[in-house]
Amino acid sequence: MEAKKLILTGDRPTGNLHLGHYVGVLKSRVEQQHTHNQYILVADVQALTDYYEMPQLVVENSLEVVKDYLAVGIDPQISTILIQSQIPAIAELTIYYMNLVSVSRLERNPTVKNEILQKGLGKTLPVGFLNYPVSQAADITAFGGELVSGGEDQIPMIEQTNEIVRKFNRIYNTNCLKEASIHLSKVPRLVGIDGKAKASKSMNNAIFLSDPPEVIREKVFAMFTDPDHIKVSDPGKVDGNVVFTYLDAFCDDPDEVNSLKSQYLKGGLGDTTLKSYLNDILQKMLQPIREKRRLLTREYILDVCYDGTSRARVVSGGILNNVRNAIGINFFDKIEKHS
Ligand code: TRP
Repeated sequence: MEAKKLILTGDRPTGNLHLGHYVGVLKSRVEQQHTHNQYILVADVQALTDYYEMPQLVVENSLEVVKDYLAVGIDPQISTILIQSQIPAIAELTIYYMNLVSVSRLERNPTVKNEILQKGLGKTLPVGFLNYPVSQAADITAFGGELVSGGEDQIPMIEQTNEIVRKFNRIYNTNCLKEASIHLSKVPRLVGIDGKAKASKSMNNAIFLSDPPEVIREKVFAMFTDPDHIKVSDPGKVDGNVVFTYLDAFCDDPDEVNSLKSQYLKGGLGDTTLKSYLNDILQKMLQPIREKRRLLTREYILDVCYDGTSRARVVSGGILNNVRNAIGINFFDKIEKHS
């Protein structure tokens, strides 16, 4: 049997995961774990580049994120869940890679450029933040993965990683680092309940996997529909109507959704009826996830992280050793060999 390809994926633990993550990356990860050797990295060090003043929050969020992974069906026996800060090789690789990347190249990284603008960092930009793509290159190469699964915003990170890999291999005359390719999540971004931007914690427009039933209901009933659809009998718009976007994403009966769409377009289908229908679907889908979440203890979550991280440390230790050998700074190895 052919060995399964190693696929790496990860999240910054900045809060609980929501339905946008669920349709985007989480579902793919649940499937992928059977077809690939999947490593899921909880990027707490990367989260610290933003939240360095709130380390306790990053720790709590990391555990919550892992809880979400397990609740949606990621199996820690077949997926390796690891905590970035507990893999010393990543920090060391980052240091070696920093010599291979210019400040201006980092400033040109589209994802970073956007974030710097959004945050208005300017001259106060911390070195650690600017450097996070280099640290991510270390994440990506530390386990010898050929595939990185994620959304489009990860493409610049992978390009940057591959530049580092090529430069490293050229300068140190080695092929110990491998380039990675993106494995794009199939489903596009989910719009927020306000219909304005993608669902996100910071925009306060997302439904979280951990939301209690009444909060889910409230959010569904607050969804943006068609502001001109005033009376039930009015014809309504389906395009840009968030309830339909969510039905497309979460209802497994497309014929039913199509028939609702044509009723809505014609007139005669009220927002309340439509929202109740979506609410029922989401409640049914999220109830078992919430229940599973509730049963997961902190001790168990920590055990899962410990096991995955321990396995990952062995793999990354091997890669780090190759990297040190390639650079030629494996002092102790040489001492051992010559003594
Ligand atoms: N940058 C990713 C995010 O914003 C998180 C991440 C860190 C990651 N290291 C990674 C993703 C390595 C894939 C591979 O969510």
